[in-house]
Formats: sequence, C-alpha cells, structure tokens
Amino acid sequence: MTGSIVYRPRNAGKLKESIHLQNSLQTNYIGNRVIWFKNLSSTQEFARGLISMNGMTRLNGYVIISDRQQNGIGRYGNMWISPKGGIWLSIILSSTLHPSRIALFSFCASVAVSEAIEICTGINSRLKWPNDVMIQGKKVAGILVDASVDADSIEHIIIGIGVNANLKTAEIEKKLQDHEQPYPITSLQEQLGTPCNTVEIIKCILQTFDKHYSRIETDSSYPILHKWRERAEPIMWRSVQISDGANLHAGKVVDLDEDGSIIIMHKDNRLEKIVSVESRIRFID
Ligand code: BTN
Repeated sequence: MTGSIVYRPRNAGKLKESIHLQNSLQTNYIGNRVIWFKNLSSTQEFARGLISMNGMTRLNGYVIISDRQQNGIGRYGNMWISPKGGIWLSIILSSTLHPSRIALFSFCASVAVSEAIEICTGINSRLKWPNDVMIQGKKVAGILVDASVDADSIEHIIIGIGVNANLKTAEIEKKLQDHEQPYPITSLQEQLGTPCNTVEIIKCILQTFDKHYSRIETDSSYPILHKWRERAEPIMWRSVQISDGANLHAGKVVDLDEDGSIIIMHKDNRLEKIVSVESRIRFID
C-alpha cells in the first residue's frame, strides 16, 4: 500500500507529545510511529480499526496511547476503568513466529512492564500467571493480547497495556463495586506516596518491550520465559483453580511449558495443559 495511513478521528490530539516520544525512543521496531490521544474509546479498539482500514503492511511497531479511555477493555471483555493519570496504550506487532508461540508476547509485555516499573520507580513487582503485574498482592497493571492467526502464521498481534500509574484506586474500586474482582488493585502513586513520571515509564516500557521482542523474533532460544519466572510469584506445586473463561480446572502446578501454557496435575494424577492467553489463576493453598 502507498500513501498515508488512514485513521479516524483525524485529530491525534497530542501531536507534539507523539512526535517527541517517537523521536526520543531508542528502539528497533516499537514506536516507529506513536499516535497519542487525549481521549479515546479504547486504544485496543482503535488499533483494531487501524489494521482493518490499512492492513498490516506498514503498521508493525505502531503505538497508540490515550490519556483516558471511555470504554477500556480488560481480559474476558471486562471493562477496564481508565481515567486520566494512568498509562493506557496498545502496540501493533507482526511476527514471524508460529502461532503456537503467541503467548510469549504476553510474557514479554509483562516482563517489560515489571522491568520498566523497577527502573523508573524502584518498585519491585511480581508477575502472576499469565500476565498480571502485582505489587504486594494488588494488581497494578494488566496486559491484553489480541491476535489474528491462521493455521501456521500470525497475521497481527495487538498488545494492550494498562498501568495504574497516578490514580486513586478508591475511585476505581467504587466504579467496580458491582463487578467481582479477583484481587485488590493499587497504583504506582499510592505505592510511592507521590506521582510518577508517566512519560518516562511509557518510554521505558516501549524500550524494554522492544529489546525482548527483537530477540524473541530472531532467536528461538531467547529465555523470555526464564525472565518471566525470575519475576513471577512462586507458582510450582501450588494448588490452583484456573478459569479459561468456559471451564474451571483445579490441581497442582507441575510445570510451565515453553509455549507459556501451564501444566497442572489433578487429584487422580492426570496431567492437563492449559493455554495461558485467556486464563485466570487463583491460588487455593
Ligand atoms: C486485564 O484485564 O488485565 C487487561 C487490561 C488491559 C487494559 C489495556 S489499557 C490499554 C488497552 N486498551 C484497552 O481498551 N485495553 C488495554
């Protein structure tokens, strides 16, 4: 395709900030184009629209950011409350990997977010399988992976990243009071006792993500799962209940597979492999 990339609304809102971030990024792929809005329904939905209007040819590495989202989307189609002060962004990717390895991108994103939080704020976070970012048992960030795949190739991936940065969590919890939440939430501001620099954190997330993504694409032995395990909450041999949206699976965790799925052992010693992308885990020991 030639000509400019088509998108609506035409006014990107924060052109100066978009260009500044784009030019300051030290990345191979990610953020070669940044589109930053003041207000959007959802960066994930916008990214999907961009792909359907333009195809993927030139969109690899595009980053969509919005200061706030009216209809932020969480996993399982849950709503994701996204007021001003948070970090709400989506990254558009193409990949040469086999679709069976797609979960690696969700591990890559959670590792990048956890590393960026540590680099920029000094806070240690823990990762909860498959990709929640937790601080002292409370969720500070979530990752949503949308992908279009066929039998042996990945057409595109959209990685949605939401970080509760400068937010008062009481306000979010109030809005969520009628919706069951698996665990409490926190924000970086609450943890630090002072607001954090969201632009610096966005830049750092994109750069760390780019570093891991470049390696995953080119080196099949790149140990992204090992990096995830180093930051993960202890999970081995713990009793869990895993919901994959449709079914509940209960057992003890015996392994994590190279493709990111989890292997549990049932009471009758039967092993079961559960893919990660649409699953949620609850520890019951
Ligand atoms: C989760 O449920 O844990 C995933 C939350 C992902 C939220 C982010 S915010 C940016 C992007 N746009 C959305 O509408 N959702 C994702």
